[in-house]
Amino acid sequence: MEWKAEWIRPQQDMGDVCPVFVKEFEGKGAVKAELRITAMGVYEAVLNGQRVGSFVLAPGWTSYEKRLQYQSYDVTKLLGEKNLLEVTLGKGWYRGPVPDWNKEDMARKAALPAGLIAQLHLTYEDGREETILTDETWGTREGQIRFSEIYDGETFDARVEAGDVSPAVCFEGRTDQLIPQQGEEIREQERVKAARIFTTPKGEVVVDFGQEVTGYLEFCVDAREGDVVEISHAEVMDKEGSFYTENYRSAKAKIHYTCRDGVQTYKPHLTFFGFRYVRLDRFPGLEEGRLPDLEQFTAVVVHSDMKRTGYLRSSNPLLNRFFSNVIWGQKGNFLDVPTDCPQRNERLGWTGDAQAFIKTASYNFDVEKFFTKWLADMAADQCENGSVGHVIPACGVGSGSAAWDDASTICPWQIYLTYGDPAILRQQFDCMKKYLAFIGSTTKDPYLWTGGEHFEDWLGLDAPVGSYKGSTRADFIASAFYAHSTLLTAKAGRVLGEDVSEYEALYKNIVKTFRETFTDYRTQTEYVLAVHFGLAEDPQKTADALAQKVVADGSRLMTGFVGTPYLLHVLSGYGHTDLAYTLLLRTEYPSWLYPVTKGATTVWEHWDGIMENGDFWSADMNSFNHYAYGAVADWVYEEAAGIHTVEEAPGFARIRIAPKPDERLDWLEGSIQTRHGLVSSKWSWVELDGVKKVRCEITTPSPSTIVIDGVSREVEPGSYLFFADK
Ligand code: BGC
Repeated sequence: MEWKAEWIRPQQDMGDVCPVFVKEFEGKGAVKAELRITAMGVYEAVLNGQRVGSFVLAPGWTSYEKRLQYQSYDVTKLLGEKNLLEVTLGKGWYRGPVPDWNKEDMARKAALPAGLIAQLHLTYEDGREETILTDETWGTREGQIRFSEIYDGETFDARVEAGDVSPAVCFEGRTDQLIPQQGEEIREQERVKAARIFTTPKGEVVVDFGQEVTGYLEFCVDAREGDVVEISHAEVMDKEGSFYTENYRSAKAKIHYTCRDGVQTYKPHLTFFGFRYVRLDRFPGLEEGRLPDLEQFTAVVVHSDMKRTGYLRSSNPLLNRFFSNVIWGQKGNFLDVPTDCPQRNERLGWTGDAQAFIKTASYNFDVEKFFTKWLADMAADQCENGSVGHVIPACGVGSGSAAWDDASTICPWQIYLTYGDPAILRQQFDCMKKYLAFIGSTTKDPYLWTGGEHFEDWLGLDAPVGSYKGSTRADFIASAFYAHSTLLTAKAGRVLGEDVSEYEALYKNIVKTFRETFTDYRTQTEYVLAVHFGLAEDPQKTADALAQKVVADGSRLMTGFVGTPYLLHVLSGYGHTDLAYTLLLRTEYPSWLYPVTKGATTVWEHWDGIMENGDFWSADMNSFNHYAYGAVADWVYEEAAGIHTVEEAPGFARIRIAPKPDERLDWLEGSIQTRHGLVSSKWSWVELDGVKKVRCEITTPSPSTIVIDGVSREVEPGSYLFFADK
């Protein structure tokens, strides 16, 4: 679209105060009105007192320099005869210190103007058209939001009246990077009621929502002008039962609200928080000893508008709570960008985390559009040398780590597999190829990836003391992912009808060299990668050795970000389903269920975020809402429930259903709403004529191969019932 409007900004920098851009206009006789708008920051537009659209934190987060989304809203219904459009602008990701450790980037962002660009297109009864453009006829004034920023929160003064308006100033700004909205809009999705209010041993008054969420608090208060509400957020309480914020690191995550007279309701406008608890640092009545009512507090859950597609249930309440935690982990971290965590001073699109979780993510929710947009940012931000970026949007955090940069091949391939549309491969193919070329140019060995700086098996339990990195060899991981990305690029190219002989040859050479170089496997993750990426010469023997190692390690996983997503797949793929279930159902540390026994309502960053004795693992790197380890849910969909899409007919156009029951569960059920319809698989143990049998109930929307008790059957779409021995 051609932009005729100009970028405008306030005459004077308003510092922390969020500027409000205002425009009055006549609209008598208009029968249609469309507003196109975007900003350098995050905006909230209001026409005649009513919010325009429901996009929270618009225009979302992209690689702004190359791609800045604009939104189009039909505002016809909000139109009057005399109209007032008001747009408030927060710093958001565009101008805020995200991340707050990159000082250079912070300085650059702080110098950017609070820019707005908009075009309001009016169509009149008589066919006449008119476009109102941002220009000097717009005004700016200070608003009630006195401060708003992603990490630190929001300051709001309800006493502030609409004050003096000064003319806006036009400035030279680019429009060539403006693109129509591509991702899902971020929206308010649900409301969680406060579960309890209590006083801690330190005398702090705390409201508990019973669930860690991402979004913001809404409160209602009857106050006198000048009364102050001050709120802090937290994920967990400490060992003594007191409010704990240290793990937010430098993110202040606070609300400061100054009241007007009377009953009023407030929720932050241009920021978000990750929290389960809020502390009422100041609240009208508290000093006189009056506790507010629970009904005064609601947590508003905010995330990208993805449709829920996948469900997992079982007879085990702890496992069900874990499944719920995985879903909440996704809701909490799919806020326009797949973030590592929603609370501390990061909230960044870490690529390693995204590639680990994407399969689970794509079964739980329809994330095709969400990832199509994020991957386009990845391609846009790809470095000149072809490396991809630790985080996307890039924010100057660095690039070139194996398993992180490999998100560039793994993510598009998974989106293609789950949804079946090769368009994502077309969009990303150049990025994939450039990434492989980068590895080729940076490695010391032609057919391995050696050298370089990597995150390795991040947070692996076999890490040496004082290190975040597991003991798996860096060159092993990098070379294994080099093979895997080469294979995926070749596969993608084949789907697209490209000549992939170069990648096929490269892949063969990497596998050969890998086998010659890595003749032994030393860690659980090394065994896992060797089998899962098809590098082990004898996968059965290697998987058996892995099983032995896991048992020797105390039937415990020792893997980190790199090995964990594939561990159970490798075990159950080679006859060790029993052991896979042992790991899945284990409740002692370390395990997926251990945090559940400690009251987790989302997935933790660390297996022992809260240790047995109640101490925290550390104050520094201890998020209680990090989705990466939730990736094990894809094993439950694919192996426990047995639902697989077939690579040759992606998007579940053909399905292979091979449930793997275990007697430690009475029943288990998985279902996915695919592009072809609902596929579901439920097994339960029953007694038939005194004999214990598994009852398998399967519904499939596509031609399928059903494998039960080792017997394969080809079936048409429909519902089926089987009884089997195991
Ligand atoms: C993030 C991780 C991320 C990692 C990279 C952390 O600070 O929270 O999830 O992948 O850095 O090593």
